[in-house]
Amino acid sequence: MDTQDKWWQKAVVYQIYPRSFQDSNGDGVGDLAGIVSRLGYLAGLGVDALWVSPFYPSPMADFGYDVADYCNVDPLFGSLADFDALIARAHALGLKFILDFVPNHTSDQHPWFIESRSSRDNPKRDWYLWRDPASGDGPAETRLPNNWMSHFGGPAWTFDSDTGQFYMHSFLAQQPDLNWRNREVRAAIFSAMRFWLERGPGGRGVDGFRMDVLWLLIKDELFRDNPPNPGWQEDSSSFGRSLPLYTANRPETHQIVAEMRSLLDSYSDSAGERLMIGEIYLPIDELVQYYGSSVPVLRSDGRDLTNVAITSPRLNGAQLPFNFHLIQAPWKASAIGQLIRDYEAAMPPGAWPNWVLGNHDQTRLATRVGPELARTAAMLLLTLRGTPTLYYGDELGMTDGIIPQDEIQDPAEKNQPGIGMGRDPERTPMQWDNSASAGFTTGSPWLPIAHDFRLHTVETEDRDHASMLSLYRGLLALRREHTALLLGEIYDVTPAGDSEFPVLAYRRSDGAERIQLLLNLGEEPQTASCLAGRILLSTNASRAPVRVSGGVTLDPREGVIVLLD
Ligand code: NOJ
Repeated sequence: MDTQDKWWQKAVVYQIYPRSFQDSNGDGVGDLAGIVSRLGYLAGLGVDALWVSPFYPSPMADFGYDVADYCNVDPLFGSLADFDALIARAHALGLKFILDFVPNHTSDQHPWFIESRSSRDNPKRDWYLWRDPASGDGPAETRLPNNWMSHFGGPAWTFDSDTGQFYMHSFLAQQPDLNWRNREVRAAIFSAMRFWLERGPGGRGVDGFRMDVLWLLIKDELFRDNPPNPGWQEDSSSFGRSLPLYTANRPETHQIVAEMRSLLDSYSDSAGERLMIGEIYLPIDELVQYYGSSVPVLRSDGRDLTNVAITSPRLNGAQLPFNFHLIQAPWKASAIGQLIRDYEAAMPPGAWPNWVLGNHDQTRLATRVGPELARTAAMLLLTLRGTPTLYYGDELGMTDGIIPQDEIQDPAEKNQPGIGMGRDPERTPMQWDNSASAGFTTGSPWLPIAHDFRLHTVETEDRDHASMLSLYRGLLALRREHTALLLGEIYDVTPAGDSEFPVLAYRRSDGAERIQLLLNLGEEPQTASCLAGRILLSTNASRAPVRVSGGVTLDPREGVIVLLD
């Protein structure tokens, strides 16, 4: 298969939220030098690639997802020299580096927007989405151009009184959306991508990008109203009032993704492909379209190899459109079994799956499913077919922090208080050791350290063979040792449909090697059938690595990996 030996297929991605990972200068906010000091831990853990959330210069209205300069580092996080040191050290340790890139919007303090808002005839006016007030009575600032809503609450339009027009923002008013129909915008963003692809010692640069809100890049050319959402409930976010028909997943988006991919492909070299991960929250059938369409596979002499049997089609979209469906699925064996089947079946030829259990926008895994099932979930994530992404601290079983009212930071919570929009709880500092600030900072942390942090620190868990950290290390090591887990097929996924049987089962095989996964997601012991083999690992650290034949009786919430004879 054409895609068989790409580094990103075998990789496990680890997400770092840089504000919260490691502070090196005592200001209470994590930074790049802090990350450098912890690279040894990450290499030892056994992950392969780091994705670091934004560290660009930013007014921090959305903690870095409001970019004021695409080609620099905010002093809060360090300098370009610190970035160079980080990428050099990461590469020296064999870790790939994936930059978070934010193409949909800039900060309102970005020089492009400052120019754009300066007058209606400024050359950069068309770089953003400006619209006249709707016709009708009342002051101009109340006559919104249409009914589009911001993901962070309220209308997606803000009035600029100096020029008498509204500008569009999918998120905060401080995050104006770029106009991706404008060719100069595309060229400017592509040039910023090139900057990072070439930045760093030896000009090797970043190994890929995680593209923020990729499915939102293009909005309806006619600015039509979104249709009402019949399922919207008054006590939920005002964003849900309408269905984002004209503001999300527009057909033209795929063309832009293909342009980005082609730029990345022009940087492929002996160290491998440059990767595009897309942040995309869509149903499976729409999500998989972000793999792109098949393009001819050409030999260097120009001959088309597409129809030659050994070559699968080359896709021109994101190599990994993030699959967040495990975060949203009910934690029930049949629901997850069905999800795995549906996702695998929807994948276009030549596409490679990926799975995610947490990120900086979602309630933490251990809080969602509980501490014990979080272990079974880890086994699931690291044994499914495809590239897994881990969220920092999940390997320790970190839970959501409790944020006192007067310490809330997240604008999503401040704009719509009390309806569960806040993302601070999943962003509390990484828990390194048992000292007062968990080894994260010598100063006062920007978000409180979790109350129970001493239960889940690297220091505590490192010594404990039954800890979550030891389980993750064991799972990551097994992936490396067994090609069936790394690259093998997945099959015999059960249960599915409306079965109540709580044991999720599937097999992985690369031909020579067959591995059976049995994950009891229920509260009772269960006996599951299993061919003869040997248990390689259990989520229950006290289970002996015995031989099995015919069946395994699993403890409540226990998962096992069995190497079949
Ligand atoms: C998605 C990011 O993951 C989220 O943290 C951010 O607030 C929005 N995009 C806006 O950039």
